[in-house]
Amino acid sequence: MQYGYFDDDNREYVITRPDTPLPWINYLGCQEYFGIISNTAGGYSFYRDARLRRITRYRYNNVPFDIGGRYLYLRDDQSGDYWSPSWQPTRDALDDYSCRHGMGYTTIGSTRLGIAASTRYFVPLDENLEIWQLTVTNRRATPAELSVFSCVEFCLWDAQDDATNFQRNFSIGQVEIEDGVVYHKTEYRERRDHFAWFACSAGLAGFDTQREAFLGPYRGWDKPLAVERGAASNSEAHGWAPIGSHHVRMVLQPGESRQVLFVLGYQENPKDQKFDPPDSQIVNKRFARPVIARYLDAANADAAFAKLRAYWDGLLSVCQARTPDIHTDRMVNAWNAYQCMATFNMSRSASFYESGIGRGLGFRDSNQDLLGFVQMAPARARERILDLAATQLPSGGAYHQYQPLTKKGNNDVGGNFNDDPHWLIVGVSAYLKETGDWSILDELVPYDNQAGSEQPLFDHLRRSFRYTLDRLGPHGLPLIGRADWNDCLNLNCFSDTPGQSFQTTTNKEGKVAESVFIAALFVLAAKELAAIATRRGLGEEAQTCLDEAARMDATVRRHGWDGDWFLRAYDDFGAKVGSKECAEGKIFIETQGFCALAGIGLEDGLARRALDSVKERLATPHGIILQQPAYSRYYLNLGEISSYPPGYKENAGIFCHNNPWVMIAEAMAGNGANAHDYYSRINPSAREPISDVHRCEPYVYAQMIAGRDAPSFGEAKNSWLTGTAAWNYYAITQWILGLRPEYDGLRIAPVIPDAWNGFEATRKFRGVVYNIAVRRAGPGNRVSLKVDGRPVEGNLIPPPAGRTEISVEATIG
Ligand code: GLC
Ligand code: GLC
Repeated sequence: MQYGYFDDDNREYVITRPDTPLPWINYLGCQEYFGIISNTAGGYSFYRDARLRRITRYRYNNVPFDIGGRYLYLRDDQSGDYWSPSWQPTRDALDDYSCRHGMGYTTIGSTRLGIAASTRYFVPLDENLEIWQLTVTNRRATPAELSVFSCVEFCLWDAQDDATNFQRNFSIGQVEIEDGVVYHKTEYRERRDHFAWFACSAGLAGFDTQREAFLGPYRGWDKPLAVERGAASNSEAHGWAPIGSHHVRMVLQPGESRQVLFVLGYQENPKDQKFDPPDSQIVNKRFARPVIARYLDAANADAAFAKLRAYWDGLLSVCQARTPDIHTDRMVNAWNAYQCMATFNMSRSASFYESGIGRGLGFRDSNQDLLGFVQMAPARARERILDLAATQLPSGGAYHQYQPLTKKGNNDVGGNFNDDPHWLIVGVSAYLKETGDWSILDELVPYDNQAGSEQPLFDHLRRSFRYTLDRLGPHGLPLIGRADWNDCLNLNCFSDTPGQSFQTTTNKEGKVAESVFIAALFVLAAKELAAIATRRGLGEEAQTCLDEAARMDATVRRHGWDGDWFLRAYDDFGAKVGSKECAEGKIFIETQGFCALAGIGLEDGLARRALDSVKERLATPHGIILQQPAYSRYYLNLGEISSYPPGYKENAGIFCHNNPWVMIAEAMAGNGANAHDYYSRINPSAREPISDVHRCEPYVYAQMIAGRDAPSFGEAKNSWLTGTAAWNYYAITQWILGLRPEYDGLRIAPVIPDAWNGFEATRKFRGVVYNIAVRRAGPGNRVSLKVDGRPVEGNLIPPPAGRTEISVEATIG
């Protein structure tokens, strides 16, 4: 069953009924001002940091799930009927409804009682504001007298404190109202130099800024008293809950349309120009006023929207493909790339499943997110890499997370996730391969943000590499620390206290528990570091990296192979995890995919055997399960992984993030049919027809799909913010379609299904447009290339100097 359809030409997903199984959301903003918006206008906005600079309030885990947002109400002033054109919060029956989620904007439209209303929400480029462009049309045969009410509820900035510290917060709310603009200035009188504003393009019949006055006592968003009565009360918030609400009246003749704009913005003032007059307590609005005036003008709003469309067209044009599979095309050409931007911006901090008050940006996550994003915005990737590296610790280890606003490592979570440092090498190598910008390695970057500790970025990579060599266990495999990629494999934790966080509780200084996964990651990172060192003329150092990679590779074969697949780990007692010897959790996905990805076992057939074991034991129609058999009880020595009921999350859920590792491994092993088959199983577009089972958005990946041990096998959870986005994009574009940036050029190495007779693609690479046509001449993956009609040796094409466009014909088979 479906709840909408893809409008591929417009790069929109069109939701045709409001009661989707879960709120289906979109992101607004892609630079510093962000919003989350659901298909019924729920959600919130923030400036840069969802926790520390929250602009509007949102109540988590609500019933219904998604309440609180960017609300507009329409009222028929002749009959007194009122409703929400976005369905929520009043949830009245609508004659028609559609929500179009597009690239950086969402348009929600509906009709009720002959009144059509459509609102386009977006954040203009380079501005810290969002525009709601409402168009109301009278489709009746008679004139309509209407009221429009807007409403946002302000958050008192620190979203965590806002949701907990009521004894203080109920007394600090402050606003100003000037020319119909509501200025939210809580705490501005003291240490803040920022405020929010909410403006409307139409003349006002009234306004409200105190929530209780707008809603009325004992009422919710579904029955605001002001709307019911058809009149605002011009309330001014002192303490309690500041809101912004405008009341606009209009009379529309039959067939007539009217546009009204609502604009919500964030403004910072220079510290010495906070007040106007300077000795007053009145917010200086001199900087905000021109911005407000500009965007209340519909022509400027339209121009800003056109600019946003063009911006996305430009970003997406970096890689476009036309394959025999519509689901592949959709994901590659629009939605997967688009999701990669969201994961780059948010890491795992703000979605409907990440509250934005918990985590900052993850070190390992952000580095992996680069894989899916670097080709679209290399300058921002560069900045992110330097920010991340600055939170690295002198030991080479890393804070697991950092706050985007302060860019400082997060002490609550700390470090000792022993895989973290290697992801920096992976991220930097992806950046170098895409851009060829070797200068980044010479950037001076501090450790732990300590002034005076600056070293070239290249030194950070060296320390990442050393970090593991300094921490080897009894088998010569890397010690796991708190956890490796699998946050829930906590082998040094032994937590028996209810409520204790597996992530942050003090672990023992384990010198026994080892991770085969980190071993594989180390091999991959060491080879990349060697390639980088070679190109810096450091031949000896490169050789050391290769020697250590080879040594680790051998160690994995010796101590990390279980007969038919790779082991997962050794626990604190030196016992195997992910082995035939185990009663449960005999085989894990991570090491099967990642060992092959690192090149371990590709030549001697171990990788092939491991992949066959995956197919036999872990693959399901809904994707590949993380491990089997699921843990049926809690294991003190394994930690959080065994805390989840079977089939969910890391305990035998389909953790979509690691499925692409197997796709890549299959591609490396030459099996394009398997690789693409796995790709299709979790491709959200391909799952659209089972939206009632899948339940999450059909246009983006979710973190997890319930595994076969769960009663809800096939049900997705935690959409949007997941490493799945970057890894799937990387797997399909670089390994299956085989358009692969390398240090010295773009490699063309498709490993596509036998049933495909080819595909076409455009890839922009270091300033050159590669127009690529791939044709299958027979089975297999051998590639012969012609560039601009002339046969060339090999399949690596350096960007030709002085050219902006080339044509590439690839024959495979
Ligand atoms: C989450 C985390 C990621 C981790 C994964 C597996 O997606 O954000 O860092 O690797 O779970 O536990
Ligand atoms: C925490 C969560 C776990 C999640 C992990 C990702 O451990 O409890 O479910 O996968 O973080 O970082």
